[in-house]
Amino acid sequence: MNYDNILTAEHGDGTLRTGVITLHRPKQLNALDDALMDDLGAALRAYDADEGIGCVVVTGSEKAFAAGADIAAMAPLTLKETYGGDFITRNWETLRVIRKPVIAAVAGFALGGGCELAMMCDFIIAADNAKFGQPEIKLGIIPGAGGTQRLPRAVGKAKAMDMVLTARTMDAVEAERCGLVSRVVAPGQLMNEALAAAAAICALSLPSILMAKESVNRAFEGSLAEGIRFERRLFHTLFATHDQKEGMAAFLAKRKPVFEHR
Ligand code: HXC
Repeated sequence: MNYDNILTAEHGDGTLRTGVITLHRPKQLNALDDALMDDLGAALRAYDADEGIGCVVVTGSEKAFAAGADIAAMAPLTLKETYGGDFITRNWETLRVIRKPVIAAVAGFALGGGCELAMMCDFIIAADNAKFGQPEIKLGIIPGAGGTQRLPRAVGKAKAMDMVLTARTMDAVEAERCGLVSRVVAPGQLMNEALAAAAAICALSLPSILMAKESVNRAFEGSLAEGIRFERRLFHTLFATHDQKEGMAAFLAKRKPVFEHR
């Protein structure tokens, strides 16, 4: 597939490879408009459906993961176009239905919708020049792609309120300290680190990876009792897979497992 606003490439040499999606509107610091979000959604769906792909990495440039939703495109919108046209919902929510793991590799600005896009991914690896923020309040709006919900879940109410109400940015060190990102590396190491994490995932059994992702996501969507019950059922189900028998047999025989993703 050819896209106008993103680049795609596949990495790795195992049975499962990593799909890398690079946001690519360099002149606008990867500002997220409809055309880009349509491309991103299509690429995500294609990788999710591709049996040769085990994990996806979404990244931007060294200067900007994404500087937010495209302000020039949003400026003239009317209520008829936002509410009536289901703005955001119509093409930003694809990440919520992607079943394979998606890692955000973030360098530079991740602001507004850019920060929200990173938070929709399963985890964030940041370069030490990354800057996270929800500066929408300076434009007379509020975050609209989950920022007021995912940010407090990630960093707690105090820091989320601080960021959403004052528009201050958070650097990578603070972001790691408070749980927004999982790892911080030098900018030159960002893709190596993200690809290594993705390769580690691709080397494991895909059914267990999918169920692990689904189960962790349940932690944010219901009660503790319900989440534990959901996890237990998926855990039980994995004993019907070839890969559970293989993984445990390999451990006991002191050899490497050969997963068949079934
Ligand atoms: C449209 C943008 C943009 C954006 C930058 N550009 N961010 N265009 N939408 N969100 C454009 C600039 O207009 C400029 O175009 C070019 O990219 C380079 O940006 P500069 O500002 O010249 O770069 P710099 O001085 O390095 O400053 C970088 C920056 C600043 C701090 C990131 O660009 C900035 O504050 N951007 C806006 C950040 C923001 O408010 N994001 C939230 C958007 S609202 P020209 O043509 O002049 O070269 C949002 C809502 C989400 O995201 C809700 C639903 C998803």
